[in-house]
Amino acid sequence: MRTEAELLETARRYSFRGRMDKAQFTGPVFVRGSGTVVEDVNGKRFLDFNSGQMCAALGHNHPRVAAAVKEACDTLMHAHSSHFNVKEIELAERVAGIMPAPLKKTLFLQSGADANEAAVNIARKYTGGHDVASPHISFHGLSDTTRALTFAGWHAGYGPAAPGAHAIVAPYCYRCPLNHSFPACEFACLKVSFDLLDAEASGRPAAVITEPLFSAGGVIEPPPGWLKRLKEMCEARGMLLIVDEEQTGLGKLGTMFGFERDGVVPDVVTIAKHFGGGVSISAVTTSAEIEDKVAAAEFVVTHSHSNDPLICAAGIASLDVIAEEDVPAKARSIGQRLKERLTALAQRFKLIGDIRGRGLLQGIELVKEGGGREPAKKEGAAIARFCLERGLIFSQRRGGSVLRFVPPATTTPEQVDEAAEILTEGFERMTAGGGTGAA
Ligand SMILES: Cc1ncc(COP(=O)(O)O)c(C=O)c1O
Repeated sequence: MRTEAELLETARRYSFRGRMDKAQFTGPVFVRGSGTVVEDVNGKRFLDFNSGQMCAALGHNHPRVAAAVKEACDTLMHAHSSHFNVKEIELAERVAGIMPAPLKKTLFLQSGADANEAAVNIARKYTGGHDVASPHISFHGLSDTTRALTFAGWHAGYGPAAPGAHAIVAPYCYRCPLNHSFPACEFACLKVSFDLLDAEASGRPAAVITEPLFSAGGVIEPPPGWLKRLKEMCEARGMLLIVDEEQTGLGKLGTMFGFERDGVVPDVVTIAKHFGGGVSISAVTTSAEIEDKVAAAEFVVTHSHSNDPLICAAGIASLDVIAEEDVPAKARSIGQRLKERLTALAQRFKLIGDIRGRGLLQGIELVKEGGGREPAKKEGAAIARFCLERGLIFSQRRGGSVLRFVPPATTTPEQVDEAAEILTEGFERMTAGGGTGAA
């Protein structure tokens, strides 16, 4: 195999840089993975507390998913997307089995952005409206339609955004844009947002799309009852509520879906990421009533590989793993240990201003000393660099000030502790010497 230096030199020549978090041609260059561990071309092993791009949340190369993919390779990998195939029918039935009533009708696509874009178009077709809103810290993908509704970043500089997209005030209570505090605020963010939406509406509104816990926006958890109130406000205007569970669903937060916390049933739900157990598949699920009306209006959304048997087989295998290994329970127990370790860290280091998230999706927000909650971006970046060198992968959000941890469901208590030790050392070095010394 070529050396890391040779591979990076080849990348420098031939790879187009359009990555979210890295513009340099530097290592690590990964070559294999299993469970919570990934290995680079130098044989160095890393604890992957980012689950790849959050898609390996069931663990890298889960044997069950790998076997399903191998079986599809021996039977049928790809099929005519206008005809039905066995795997896609079985998967649609399985998805209906985990969704609450009346969400029973599912279509399959490849990426999270695809699914959210389809969900938005379903809402437009169903309501006859066009305007769609999303909280101002949301991430729904980087296609034209979803980038227009992605406000956590990556929004500006791509020409005029697709029309009909609006931002509403997100429930970011740690930095409430309205300077309120919960619960005294009585969801002032929603009141203000809908006053504005009502005032600027130029026709029928179609939907609000939201994550139930904002991942890319900085692991920001809405206060209890926020999603319920949002649903009521949508219903009052004939708008659909689309909940993007691509990051939060399928057990990751300790429940099958994030929306369960508020006892809400959305009109449309999208899933992606670890739905394919590492293979690219996404889904949009809605009610028979919505599907009937939209299908009668000749709604079409499909791509060449939308319902391929291979990706659907991976989806079935991942749902098997989630059920048989009780991934929600695993998420709760791993999450509890992680939370304990992060809480202990916060007690030691004033740099940690807030700890957020649930289950396998948690984050800490770093702030400078002085009580002003000024985001500690450089400090976050230095700690992340140090940890990467020490073999711990996680991601950073909000310009580096939020450290986000998404360990796979295969993570053992010892691996949580090992990650916490590396992180502690990163904080110790940062606070002792004004830097981590990491290159
Ligand atoms: C909540 C959420 N929605 C949508 C997406 C976009 O998914 P994809 O990158 O597969 O298009 C992501 C990706 O991180 C996400 O976290």
